[in-house]
Amino acid sequence: MRKNIVAGNWKMNLDYEQGLSLFSEIVNMVKDEVVGDQEVVVCSPFIHLSSIAKLATAKVAVGAQNIHQADAGAYTGEVSASQVKSVGAAYVILGHSERRGYFGETDALLAEKVNTALKNELKPIFCIGETKDEREAGNFFDIIKTQLEQGVFHLSAEEFAKVVLAYEPVWAIGTGLTASPEQAQEVHAFIRATLAAKYGQELADATTILYGGSCNPSNAEDLFSQADIDGGLIGGASLKSRDFLSIVKAFNTK
Ligand code: PGA
Repeated sequence: MRKNIVAGNWKMNLDYEQGLSLFSEIVNMVKDEVVGDQEVVVCSPFIHLSSIAKLATAKVAVGAQNIHQADAGAYTGEVSASQVKSVGAAYVILGHSERRGYFGETDALLAEKVNTALKNELKPIFCIGETKDEREAGNFFDIIKTQLEQGVFHLSAEEFAKVVLAYEPVWAIGTGLTASPEQAQEVHAFIRATLAAKYGQELADATTILYGGSCNPSNAEDLFSQADIDGGLIGGASLKSRDFLSIVKAFNTK
């Protein structure tokens, strides 16, 4: 019904050669592991993108971790969506909490980036999630709803159908603290209900919602067994081919 995705986010790690060899290993290792309607995505730094895109397969796609919102122009140091698309990438991570937090990316800016990605036929992996303070204050459902409303709810249903969502509680990213399967499922179910209210149940049921935040080989199976968790966005554990493969395999047991 909806696609299951395990996406790796390499962040700002790996030099050129290291990235190429890790991607080749991943392609070889997942060859026999990706079953049914499952896709593996590797989101690399820009520097690797054109080379690994040439090695991409029907089962392993590549994506960027950012784009600029403008089509082209005098934006020194930035990379456009059409440039990313032109090397063969299929996805782009948008709204990651590190972009929101360290680079001041606002919901309004992210809405522009989502538009630019879709215009250039890149599928956004749009990240949402609450901070530790917001979780403790208990208003995290409101925070997540606002991120959806301001980041993607301006899209038509046809456009929204191309978006993948990733719920990433900020307190779980790179901290070793993982949301429990029940905590994650609770939010995923809330997200799907919010989508159903906006776009109808059919589109909500067809939307892939990933979990991200310290997902690793020992917790992936429990997380992925939850009804509304359709895969993972994997940071640290995506840098080791064996760990990443274990996470991909964890999905096959669903
Ligand atoms: P992590 O990162 O798996 O290292 O916690 C996840 C992410 O930032 O997407």
